[in-house]
Amino acid sequence: MRIFKITSLTVMALVTATVVMAQKPRIRIVATGGTIAGVSASATSSAYGAGQVGIQTLIEAVPQVKDIADVSGEQLVNIGSQDMNDEVWLKLARRVNDLLNKEGYDGVLITHGTDTMEETAYFLSLTVHSDKPVVLVGAMRPSTAISADGPANLYNGVCTLVDPSSKGHGVMACMNNELFEAKALVKTHTTDCAAFKGGLYGEMGYVYNGRPYFLHTPVAKQGMTSAFNVDNVTALPKVGIVYGYANCSPLPMQAFVNAGFDGIVLAGVGDGNFYKDVFDVALKAQNGGIQIVRSSRVPFGPTNLNGEVDDARYHFVASLNLNPQKARILLMLALTKTRDWQTIQQYFNEY
Ligand code: SIN
Repeated sequence: MRIFKITSLTVMALVTATVVMAQKPRIRIVATGGTIAGVSASATSSAYGAGQVGIQTLIEAVPQVKDIADVSGEQLVNIGSQDMNDEVWLKLARRVNDLLNKEGYDGVLITHGTDTMEETAYFLSLTVHSDKPVVLVGAMRPSTAISADGPANLYNGVCTLVDPSSKGHGVMACMNNELFEAKALVKTHTTDCAAFKGGLYGEMGYVYNGRPYFLHTPVAKQGMTSAFNVDNVTALPKVGIVYGYANCSPLPMQAFVNAGFDGIVLAGVGDGNFYKDVFDVALKAQNGGIQIVRSSRVPFGPTNLNGEVDDARYHFVASLNLNPQKARILLMLALTKTRDWQTIQQYFNEY
C-alpha cells in the first residue's frame, strides 16, 4: 500500500482548491434609481416617487442573491429614468466597461427606471465591449407596494448573470420573468407588470426556477463587435425627435434646425412618411448637413429604405427596425464617427 506524505504544500493546495471551488461569481449592481427604488405613501397607494431608496436597501430586500453570487453594489445616480441623460449614459458605459474589463467582475446588474430602460439598454449594447452579461432590471410597482415586482426582477437578473449560458447574450433586460435583448426591448404598457415586449424579435428568453433559458442570440451587432467607443467622448452629438401626425406643424423640426442640432429623427406616420410641410424643412436640413433619419410612430414593423420615400435621392437614412428613440441613439453614436449618410445607413443596416 502506498502512503502519501502530507506536506504543508499539499495542505495549502487543498485549501486553495476548496476556496476556488467555493468562489461565487462576482456580480456588481449599479443602481440608477427608478420605480424599483420608488417609495409610496402606503403599501396600497399608486402614487409614489421614483429613485428614493439606495442600493443597499435593494440588495437587503433580496438576501437570496448572496446564496448564488458574491454581490456588491454602488449608486451611480438615483433618478426617475424620465431624467436619464447623455452625461449619465457616458458615465454608466465607462463604469460598466471598467467593471467587466478592468475590475474582473463576472457580470453587471443595472437597476433602472422602466420609462427609458430600452434606450439605456440599447446605448450600453453599443458601447460596452465585453462578452460578459449585463442585465437591466426595474419594476412597475414601487419597493413599498404590496406585491412589489422589483425584488423578483432583481433576483432573476442575478440568476441570469451567474449562469454560464448568458455569456455572449450582450446587454439584456430581465422583467416579469422574461429576457429581452437591448435592440428588441420596448415598453408597451404604462402600468402593467408585463409592460415589456420584444417587438418584431420577441423575447430572447425567460427565467424559470432561478435559471435563464435562451430562445435565440442577439440579432444585431453589439458588444464586442460594436464599432462605437465612448471612452474619450465628452458630449454626444445633439439629435432630436419630431413626431408626425395629420396636418403636422413644421415648427418643431425648424426649431431643431435653428438650435443647431446635428441630426433629427422623424417619428413619421406609416412607413416613416413626412407631412409635406415637414418634408420641405427636412430636405433643407439634410442639404444643410443635418442628418435626417426616418423612423415611424407605428409600434411594429420596419421603416423601409427607398420605399414610399426616395431616400437614395434625398440622402435620408431609414431606421429599419429601430423605433424613433433607439434610432436617436444610433444616430448620436454614428455622428461621433462620420457625417456620411451612406455610412450612417450602413450602421442602421448592421446595428
Ligand atoms: C422611471 O422610469 O424611473 C419611472 C417609472 C418606472 O421605473 O417604472
